Amino acid sequence: MATQPRVLLFDSGMGGLTVARAVARQLPDAHLVYAADNAAFPYGAWKEQDLVRRIVTVLGRLIDLTRPDAVVIACNTASTIALAELRAAYKVPFVGTVPAIKPAAAQTRSGVIGVLATPGTVSREYTHSLIHTFAYHCKVVLHGAPRLAEIAERKLKGHAIDMEELRAEVAPVFRKRDGRQTDVVVLGCTHYPLLTEDIRKVAPWPVTYIDPAPAIARRTADVVEETPLKGPDADVPAHGTVVLTSARGSASETLAAYGVMGFPLHMVIDLPA
Ligand code: DGL
Repeated sequence: MATQPRVLLFDSGMGGLTVARAVARQLPDAHLVYAADNAAFPYGAWKEQDLVRRIVTVLGRLIDLTRPDAVVIACNTASTIALAELRAAYKVPFVGTVPAIKPAAAQTRSGVIGVLATPGTVSREYTHSLIHTFAYHCKVVLHGAPRLAEIAERKLKGHAIDMEELRAEVAPVFRKRDGRQTDVVVLGCTHYPLLTEDIRKVAPWPVTYIDPAPAIARRTADVVEETPLKGPDADVPAHGTVVLTSARGSASETLAAYGVMGFPLHMVIDLPA
């Protein structure tokens, strides 16, 4: 039997499950472990230097624990700030998730693009340089939504959504200008595709929403293909394990949500915020 690639997926919380789902489809035989730094969730409000230190430390622990062939940083807030440091610190290949500004610029007809992301991601140099490079000819409306990632987590745990709150979180990316209006919205946080159908309901007009997960899954498959695989290892967490950095996420509603998304097993590593 061919060796299974071992892939570690990482996010601050449950948003990266949208990427994990796409990776599981793309690589059905892969051994997947999902890690959420729930002790530090949400990342969107963290100061840059503290967050980089945090992410590099947590990933060090997770790489020792899971010995992956590839790591997917299924989080825009982490990728836009810490990918270079992670690549410098660890030998394993990393696949990052950054706002899909390039495909949005290719798809827009009106030239007005909305980017919905966390406050951290919209303030990053990395995000601004994506806009300068790929969407310099477009009007790009960036919005750091303060509560959207938390709304998505609550939904996954089975709670009802306050549609008025949701409307207020997304409204700023819908802009009209000189007779043109936003026609593409980039979901620049991996939590947001969990809410796409709800966002459609509160949006003032229909637009195309870009979820980067399928592209990240394809990139992960390419990376795994190019990487010499480590092979079976009885000491690493089993396929389908979710690793949490705090027991705070161990409530049964949280674990049930991970189970529904394909991660029925769980373990907690002690890494307080
Ligand atoms: N899922 C994350 C992202 O893609 C971050 C959410 C948060 O922790 O604020 O940006």
